[in-house]
Amino acid sequence: MNEQFKKRLKRTGMLAAVALAVGAMIGFMQAGTQNNTGKNATVIDKGSTPAAVPGVQVGGPFSLTDQDGNAVTDKSYPGYKLVYFGFTMCPMICPTGLQKIAKTLDLMGKDGESITPILISVDPERDTPAVMKEYVKQFHPRLVGLTGTKEQIESAEKSYRVFASKTQDEATTEYSMDHSSFTYLMSPDGQLLGLYRDSDTAESMAEDIKNKL
Ligand code: NI
Repeated sequence: MNEQFKKRLKRTGMLAAVALAVGAMIGFMQAGTQNNTGKNATVIDKGSTPAAVPGVQVGGPFSLTDQDGNAVTDKSYPGYKLVYFGFTMCPMICPTGLQKIAKTLDLMGKDGESITPILISVDPERDTPAVMKEYVKQFHPRLVGLTGTKEQIESAEKSYRVFASKTQDEATTEYSMDHSSFTYLMSPDGQLLGLYRDSDTAESMAEDIKNKL
């Protein structure tokens, strides 16, 4: 192989890798999107998970407020974390997802105790620390509820590649939120170890997480 050909091959390979990564990200963002109004609630499941895409970082530092009003960061929870983005007024998907996280931890027994479950609000306007406190205790005694300023939440959403936007429900004066609903398993050093969808069961999650601890 001559030098020029090798160079060209390398460049083509890199372009292909970038195209793949971008394609996977788009697939990822579409795959977990839920519609809380119940319209177009079909979950599009395509594309590989970002965990399989080299160079695409998912998850990272955040700076938020916990349900007791304390300023916290990702470093406040040094062990394994199961992170979920949602909001307390979500009628269906978030409660189901949070119940599943609680069941997963229970199924894992002693192993589950090393994992901190965390809900990060995509609706900081309504989800104050006090509202989060009332909400999280309904699901799991160790579930942490984090909220923050609009900027803090947007920054956390960005690092986890979360899609969230307001929608108006014509039936009420209240707005709802469309948002992606993945559960992220994060390692103590902040790496994404697993990504779970609405369609995953607590049993399959518990099994997969046990293998990854
Ligand atoms: Ni929701």
